[in-house]
Amino acid sequence: MRIAISTGGGDAPGLNAVIRAAVMSALDRGWHVLGIKRGYMGLLGEDEVIPLTADSVRGIAHLGGTILRTTNRGNPFQYPVRQPDGSYVDVDRSDELIDNARNLGIEAFITIGGDGSLAIAQKLFEKGVRIVGVPKTIDNDVSGTITTFGFDTAVTTAMEAIDKLHTTASSHDRVLVLEVMGRDCGFIALHSGVSGQAHAILIPEIAWDIENVCAHIMKRDGQGKKFAIVVVAEGVQFEGEQGSLGESMPGQAKRVGGVAEQIAKAIQVRTGKECRSLVLGHLQRGGMPTGYDRLLATRFGGAATEAVANAKWGHMVALQTPHIVPIPLTDVLMKLKRVDPTHDLVRTARRIGISFGD
Ligand code: F6P
Repeated sequence: MRIAISTGGGDAPGLNAVIRAAVMSALDRGWHVLGIKRGYMGLLGEDEVIPLTADSVRGIAHLGGTILRTTNRGNPFQYPVRQPDGSYVDVDRSDELIDNARNLGIEAFITIGGDGSLAIAQKLFEKGVRIVGVPKTIDNDVSGTITTFGFDTAVTTAMEAIDKLHTTASSHDRVLVLEVMGRDCGFIALHSGVSGQAHAILIPEIAWDIENVCAHIMKRDGQGKKFAIVVVAEGVQFEGEQGSLGESMPGQAKRVGGVAEQIAKAIQVRTGKECRSLVLGHLQRGGMPTGYDRLLATRFGGAATEAVANAKWGHMVALQTPHIVPIPLTDVLMKLKRVDPTHDLVRTARRIGISFGD
Protein backbone atom coordinates (compact mmCIF):
# COMPACT_ATOMS: atom_id res chain seq x y z
CA MET A 1 0.00 0.00 0.00
CA ARG A 2 1.25 3.47 -0.83
CA ILE A 3 -0.54 6.25 1.03
CA ALA A 4 -0.18 10.02 1.01
CA ILE A 5 -0.73 12.44 3.86
CA SER A 6 -1.65 16.11 3.56
CA THR A 7 -2.37 18.95 5.99
CA GLY A 8 -4.73 21.70 4.82
CA GLY A 9 -6.25 24.93 6.16
CA GLY A 10 -4.98 26.86 9.15
CA ASP A 11 -2.40 25.00 11.22
CA ALA A 12 -3.22 23.68 14.68
CA PRO A 13 -0.92 22.44 17.43
CA GLY A 14 -0.82 18.64 17.17
CA LEU A 15 -0.56 18.31 13.38
CA ASN A 16 2.95 16.90 13.62
CA ALA A 17 1.84 14.37 16.23
CA VAL A 18 -0.87 13.11 13.83
CA ILE A 19 1.64 12.90 10.99
CA ARG A 20 4.11 11.02 13.16
CA ALA A 21 1.54 8.51 14.42
CA ALA A 22 0.07 7.96 10.95
CA VAL A 23 3.49 7.45 9.38
CA MET A 24 4.80 5.15 12.11
CA SER A 25 1.69 3.00 12.15
CA ALA A 26 1.63 2.82 8.34
CA LEU A 27 5.31 1.80 8.25
CA ASP A 28 4.50 -0.82 10.88
CA ARG A 29 2.03 -2.31 8.39
CA GLY A 30 4.73 -2.37 5.73
CA TRP A 31 3.21 0.51 3.72
CA HIS A 32 5.00 3.32 1.91
CA VAL A 33 4.10 6.86 2.91
CA LEU A 34 4.33 10.10 0.95
CA GLY A 35 3.82 13.62 2.28
CA ILE A 36 2.14 16.18 0.05
CA LYS A 37 3.48 19.63 0.80
CA ARG A 38 1.19 22.65 1.42
CA GLY A 39 -2.26 21.11 1.28
CA TYR A 40 -2.60 19.59 -2.20
CA MET A 41 -0.13 22.04 -3.77
CA GLY A 42 2.53 19.32 -3.93
CA LEU A 43 0.28 17.27 -6.20
CA LEU A 44 -0.49 20.22 -8.44
CA GLY A 45 3.12 20.92 -9.30
CA GLU A 46 3.18 23.97 -7.01
CA ASP A 47 5.27 22.26 -4.32
CA GLU A 48 6.81 18.86 -3.58
CA VAL A 49 5.70 15.36 -2.70
CA ILE A 50 8.22 13.78 -0.33
CA PRO A 51 8.76 10.32 1.11
CA LEU A 52 7.92 10.11 4.80
CA THR A 53 10.10 7.70 6.73
CA ALA A 54 10.74 7.02 10.40
CA ASP A 55 13.62 9.49 10.11
CA SER A 56 11.41 12.24 8.68
CA VAL A 57 9.04 12.08 11.64
CA ARG A 58 11.56 11.56 14.41
CA GLY A 59 11.20 14.02 17.31
CA ILE A 60 8.34 16.07 15.83
CA ALA A 61 5.34 15.15 18.01
CA HIS A 62 5.89 18.05 20.41
CA LEU A 63 6.41 20.68 17.71
CA GLY A 64 3.75 23.18 16.64
CA GLY A 65 3.01 23.84 12.97
CA THR A 66 3.27 21.09 10.35
CA ILE A 67 6.36 19.62 8.73
CA LEU A 68 4.25 19.31 5.55
CA ARG A 69 3.31 22.99 5.69
CA THR A 70 -0.21 24.05 4.82
CA THR A 71 -2.37 26.52 2.94
CA ASN A 72 -5.92 27.78 3.04
CA ARG A 73 -5.74 28.91 -0.58
CA GLY A 74 -5.32 25.55 -2.33
CA ASN A 75 -8.81 24.11 -2.88
CA PRO A 76 -8.24 21.95 -6.01
CA PHE A 77 -11.90 22.41 -7.01
CA GLN A 78 -11.64 26.21 -6.89
CA TYR A 79 -7.98 26.90 -7.37
CA PRO A 80 -7.33 30.66 -7.66
CA VAL A 81 -5.27 31.34 -10.79
CA ARG A 82 -3.80 34.81 -11.23
CA GLN A 83 -4.62 36.43 -14.57
CA PRO A 84 -2.34 38.82 -16.51
CA ASP A 85 -4.46 41.78 -15.34
CA GLY A 86 -3.87 40.82 -11.69
CA SER A 87 -7.37 39.43 -11.10
CA TYR A 88 -8.01 35.82 -10.06
CA VAL A 89 -10.15 33.13 -11.68
CA ASP A 90 -11.13 29.91 -9.88
CA VAL A 91 -10.15 26.80 -11.84
CA ASP A 92 -11.13 23.17 -11.12
CA ARG A 93 -7.81 21.28 -10.94
CA SER A 94 -9.19 18.15 -9.25
CA ASP A 95 -8.74 15.90 -12.32
CA GLU A 96 -5.11 17.00 -12.58
CA LEU A 97 -4.63 16.17 -8.90
CA ILE A 98 -6.16 12.71 -9.31
CA ASP A 99 -4.01 11.99 -12.41
CA ASN A 100 -0.84 13.08 -10.63
CA ALA A 101 -1.71 10.91 -7.61
CA ARG A 102 -2.25 7.93 -9.90
CA ASN A 103 1.09 8.53 -11.62
CA LEU A 104 2.81 8.51 -8.24
CA GLY A 105 1.12 5.23 -7.33
CA ILE A 106 -0.84 6.77 -4.45
CA GLU A 107 -3.58 4.35 -3.47
CA ALA A 108 -5.09 6.18 -0.52
CA PHE A 109 -5.02 9.55 1.20
CA ILE A 110 -5.10 10.69 4.80
CA THR A 111 -6.11 14.34 4.91
CA ILE A 112 -5.82 16.31 8.12
CA GLY A 113 -7.97 19.41 8.12
CA GLY A 114 -10.95 21.43 9.31
CA ASP A 115 -14.39 21.84 7.75
CA GLY A 116 -12.98 23.27 4.49
CA SER A 117 -10.44 20.46 3.98
CA LEU A 118 -12.99 17.82 4.99
CA ALA A 119 -15.45 19.20 2.42
CA ILE A 120 -12.70 18.90 -0.23
CA ALA A 121 -12.08 15.31 0.97
CA GLN A 122 -15.76 14.48 0.49
CA LYS A 123 -15.70 15.89 -3.07
CA LEU A 124 -12.57 13.88 -3.90
CA PHE A 125 -14.22 10.78 -2.42
CA GLU A 126 -17.23 11.39 -4.68
CA LYS A 127 -14.78 11.35 -7.62
CA GLY A 128 -13.55 7.92 -6.56
CA VAL A 129 -10.54 8.92 -4.43
CA ARG A 130 -9.86 6.61 -1.49
CA ILE A 131 -9.58 9.12 1.33
CA VAL A 132 -9.86 9.26 5.12
CA GLY A 133 -10.09 12.49 7.14
CA VAL A 134 -8.67 13.58 10.48
CA PRO A 135 -10.42 16.55 12.15
CA LYS A 136 -8.17 19.47 12.94
CA THR A 137 -8.98 22.94 14.16
CA ILE A 138 -8.36 25.13 17.16
CA ASP A 139 -11.99 26.28 16.82
CA ASN A 140 -13.45 22.88 17.85
CA ASP A 141 -16.31 23.39 15.37
CA VAL A 142 -16.20 20.01 13.59
CA SER A 143 -19.34 17.94 14.16
CA GLY A 144 -19.27 14.29 15.18
CA THR A 145 -16.13 14.48 17.29
CA ILE A 146 -16.19 15.51 20.94
CA THR A 147 -13.18 17.67 20.32
CA THR A 148 -10.48 18.39 17.77
CA PHE A 149 -6.78 18.49 18.53
CA GLY A 150 -5.39 22.02 18.75
CA PHE A 151 -8.39 23.27 20.71
CA ASP A 152 -6.95 22.48 24.14
CA THR A 153 -3.68 24.25 23.29
CA ALA A 154 -5.51 27.32 22.00
CA VAL A 155 -7.70 27.43 25.13
CA THR A 156 -4.61 27.13 27.33
CA THR A 157 -2.89 29.98 25.50
CA ALA A 158 -6.00 32.19 25.82
CA MET A 159 -6.47 31.24 29.47
CA GLU A 160 -2.87 32.19 30.26
CA ALA A 161 -3.42 35.51 28.49
CA ILE A 162 -6.51 36.15 30.66
CA ASP A 163 -4.49 35.30 33.80
CA LYS A 164 -1.97 37.96 32.82
CA LEU A 165 -4.64 40.50 31.99
CA HIS A 166 -6.12 40.12 35.47
CA THR A 167 -3.08 41.55 37.22
CA THR A 168 -2.62 44.53 34.95
CA ALA A 169 -6.36 45.29 34.69
CA SER A 170 -6.77 45.23 38.45
CA SER A 171 -3.69 47.41 39.01
CA HIS A 172 -5.13 50.10 36.72
CA ASP A 173 -8.87 49.69 37.35
CA ARG A 174 -9.28 49.08 33.63
CA VAL A 175 -11.68 47.09 31.53
CA LEU A 176 -9.74 44.85 29.15
CA VAL A 177 -11.47 43.26 26.18
CA LEU A 178 -9.68 40.20 24.83
CA GLU A 179 -10.62 38.89 21.39
CA VAL A 180 -9.99 35.20 20.76
CA MET A 181 -10.31 33.10 17.61
CA GLY A 182 -13.06 30.64 16.69
CA ARG A 183 -14.66 32.03 13.52
CA ASP A 184 -18.43 31.54 13.90
CA CYS A 185 -18.14 29.54 17.12
CA GLY A 186 -17.57 30.54 20.71
CA PHE A 187 -15.82 27.45 22.10
CA ILE A 188 -12.40 29.08 22.63
CA ALA A 189 -14.00 32.16 24.23
CA LEU A 190 -16.23 30.07 26.48
CA HIS A 191 -13.59 27.59 27.64
CA SER A 192 -10.81 30.13 28.12
CA GLY A 193 -13.18 32.68 29.65
CA VAL A 194 -14.45 30.26 32.27
CA SER A 195 -11.07 28.71 33.06
CA GLY A 196 -9.42 32.17 33.13
CA GLN A 197 -12.29 33.61 35.21
CA ALA A 198 -13.34 36.41 32.91
CA HIS A 199 -16.26 38.58 34.02
CA ALA A 200 -18.11 38.61 30.72
CA ILE A 201 -17.94 36.29 27.70
CA LEU A 202 -19.48 37.24 24.38
CA ILE A 203 -20.03 34.47 21.83
CA PRO A 204 -21.90 34.28 18.51
CA GLU A 205 -24.26 31.59 19.84
CA ILE A 206 -25.77 33.85 22.55
CA ALA A 207 -27.43 37.14 21.54
CA TRP A 208 -26.02 39.92 23.72
CA ASP A 209 -26.49 43.60 24.32
CA ILE A 210 -23.78 46.15 25.11
CA GLU A 211 -26.02 47.73 27.79
CA ASN A 212 -26.12 44.43 29.68
CA VAL A 213 -22.34 44.10 29.50
CA CYS A 214 -21.91 47.65 30.82
CA ALA A 215 -24.49 47.08 33.57
CA HIS A 216 -22.51 44.01 34.69
CA ILE A 217 -19.26 45.98 34.73
CA MET A 218 -20.86 48.81 36.70
CA LYS A 219 -22.42 46.39 39.16
CA ARG A 220 -18.94 45.04 39.87
CA ASP A 221 -17.69 48.60 40.11
CA GLY A 222 -20.36 49.39 42.70
CA GLN A 223 -19.13 46.40 44.71
CA GLY A 224 -15.62 47.86 44.72
CA LYS A 225 -14.34 45.60 41.94
CA LYS A 226 -13.09 48.33 39.69
CA PHE A 227 -11.67 46.23 36.84
CA ALA A 228 -13.17 43.72 34.45
CA ILE A 229 -12.07 41.25 31.80
CA VAL A 230 -14.35 40.71 28.82
CA VAL A 231 -13.57 37.81 26.48
CA VAL A 232 -15.01 38.18 23.00
CA ALA A 233 -15.15 35.53 20.29
CA GLU A 234 -13.90 37.06 17.02
CA GLY A 235 -17.13 36.04 15.26
CA VAL A 236 -19.54 38.08 17.39
CA GLN A 237 -21.37 40.90 15.74
CA PHE A 238 -21.55 44.37 17.22
CA GLU A 239 -24.42 46.55 16.02
CA GLY A 240 -25.19 44.04 13.29
CA GLU A 241 -21.67 43.80 11.92
CA GLN A 242 -18.67 41.54 12.30
CA GLY A 243 -15.26 43.10 12.86
CA SER A 244 -12.85 43.12 9.95
CA LEU A 245 -9.14 42.48 10.11
CA GLY A 246 -8.57 43.42 6.50
CA GLU A 247 -8.86 41.86 3.08
CA SER A 248 -8.51 38.10 2.55
CA MET A 249 -6.21 36.75 -0.15
CA PRO A 250 -7.82 35.22 -3.27
CA GLY A 251 -9.10 31.71 -2.54
CA GLN A 252 -9.21 32.38 1.20
CA ALA A 253 -12.24 32.46 3.49
CA LYS A 254 -13.30 35.90 4.73
CA ARG A 255 -11.09 37.12 7.57
CA VAL A 256 -12.99 37.75 10.77
CA GLY A 257 -11.93 39.71 13.82
CA GLY A 258 -11.39 43.21 15.09
CA VAL A 259 -14.69 43.47 16.94
CA ALA A 260 -13.00 43.80 20.36
CA GLU A 261 -11.91 47.33 19.60
CA GLN A 262 -15.44 48.44 18.74
CA ILE A 263 -16.77 46.82 21.91
CA ALA A 264 -14.04 48.40 24.07
CA LYS A 265 -14.83 51.86 22.67
CA ALA A 266 -18.53 51.38 23.34
CA ILE A 267 -17.91 50.25 26.93
CA GLN A 268 -15.63 53.23 27.59
CA VAL A 269 -18.21 55.69 26.27
CA ARG A 270 -21.06 54.15 28.25
CA THR A 271 -19.29 53.50 31.57
CA GLY A 272 -16.67 56.23 31.66
CA LYS A 273 -14.15 53.57 32.63
CA GLU A 274 -10.85 53.26 30.82
CA CYS A 275 -11.21 50.39 28.40
CA ARG A 276 -8.59 48.74 26.17
CA SER A 277 -8.74 45.88 23.70
CA LEU A 278 -6.36 43.31 22.32
CA VAL A 279 -6.56 40.60 19.68
CA LEU A 280 -4.78 37.41 20.73
CA GLY A 281 -4.66 36.23 17.11
CA HIS A 282 -2.26 33.62 15.81
CA LEU A 283 -0.56 33.10 19.16
CA GLN A 284 -3.44 30.68 19.70
CA ARG A 285 -2.30 28.59 16.75
CA GLY A 286 1.40 28.48 17.55
CA GLY A 287 3.67 26.63 19.91
CA MET A 288 3.79 23.20 21.45
CA PRO A 289 0.61 21.17 21.67
CA THR A 290 -0.55 20.40 25.21
CA GLY A 291 -0.30 16.84 26.47
CA TYR A 292 -4.01 16.37 25.78
CA ASP A 293 -3.66 17.52 22.17
CA ARG A 294 -0.54 15.43 21.57
CA LEU A 295 -2.29 12.36 22.85
CA LEU A 296 -5.49 12.99 20.87
CA ALA A 297 -3.48 13.75 17.73
CA THR A 298 -1.48 10.55 18.17
CA ARG A 299 -4.67 8.53 18.61
CA PHE A 300 -6.18 10.16 15.51
CA GLY A 301 -3.05 9.35 13.46
CA GLY A 302 -3.15 5.69 14.48
CA ALA A 303 -6.91 5.48 13.93
CA ALA A 304 -6.62 7.07 10.47
CA THR A 305 -4.18 4.35 9.38
CA GLU A 306 -6.56 1.76 10.77
CA ALA A 307 -9.43 3.36 8.83
CA VAL A 308 -7.34 3.06 5.64
CA ALA A 309 -6.60 -0.61 6.45
CA ASN A 310 -10.36 -1.15 6.91
CA ALA A 311 -11.18 0.73 3.66
CA LYS A 312 -13.30 3.32 5.50
CA TRP A 313 -13.17 5.67 2.50
CA GLY A 314 -15.08 8.92 2.81
CA HIS A 315 -14.91 8.68 6.61
CA MET A 316 -13.36 10.84 9.31
CA VAL A 317 -11.91 9.55 12.56
CA ALA A 318 -13.77 11.06 15.51
CA LEU A 319 -13.41 11.10 19.27
CA GLN A 320 -16.52 9.58 20.75
CA THR A 321 -15.25 9.00 24.25
CA PRO A 322 -13.83 6.59 25.17
CA HIS A 323 -13.21 5.46 21.58
CA ILE A 324 -11.99 6.84 18.28
CA VAL A 325 -14.41 5.76 15.56
CA PRO A 326 -14.71 6.33 11.81
CA ILE A 327 -17.85 8.29 10.85
CA PRO A 328 -19.06 9.28 7.34
CA LEU A 329 -17.86 12.67 6.15
CA THR A 330 -21.38 13.41 4.93
CA ASP A 331 -22.60 13.30 8.56
CA VAL A 332 -19.76 15.56 9.67
CA LEU A 333 -20.39 18.13 6.97
CA MET A 334 -24.12 18.46 7.57
CA LYS A 335 -23.63 21.21 10.10
CA LEU A 336 -20.98 23.10 12.00
CA LYS A 337 -20.66 22.25 15.69
CA ARG A 338 -21.50 25.28 17.84
CA VAL A 339 -21.77 26.08 21.53
CA ASP A 340 -25.05 24.86 23.00
CA PRO A 341 -26.35 27.78 25.11
CA THR A 342 -28.01 25.27 27.46
CA HIS A 343 -24.76 23.33 28.03
CA ASP A 344 -23.74 22.82 31.66
CA LEU A 345 -20.61 24.92 31.12
CA VAL A 346 -22.73 27.93 30.15
CA ARG A 347 -25.10 27.32 33.05
CA THR A 348 -22.22 26.98 35.50
CA ALA A 349 -20.55 30.09 34.12
CA ARG A 350 -23.72 32.06 34.78
CA ARG A 351 -23.98 30.70 38.33
CA ILE A 352 -20.42 31.74 39.12
CA GLY A 353 -21.20 35.29 38.06
CA ILE A 354 -20.06 35.44 34.44
CA SER A 355 -22.25 37.54 32.17
CA PHE A 356 -23.00 36.57 28.57
CA GLY A 357 -24.41 40.03 27.92
CA ASP A 358 -27.92 38.62 27.44
O1 F6P B 1 -10.10 28.16 11.72
C1 F6P B 1 -8.98 28.43 12.49
C2 F6P B 1 -8.71 29.90 12.53
O2 F6P B 1 -7.58 30.11 13.35
C3 F6P B 1 -9.90 30.76 12.98
O3 F6P B 1 -10.07 30.73 14.37
C4 F6P B 1 -9.51 32.09 12.42
O4 F6P B 1 -10.60 32.93 12.17
C5 F6P B 1 -8.86 31.72 11.13
O5 F6P B 1 -8.40 30.39 11.25
C6 F6P B 1 -7.70 32.61 10.77
O6 F6P B 1 -7.19 32.19 9.57
P1 F6P B 1 -5.93 32.87 8.89
O7 F6P B 1 -4.73 32.32 9.57
O8 F6P B 1 -6.03 32.48 7.48
O9 F6P B 1 -6.08 34.34 9.11
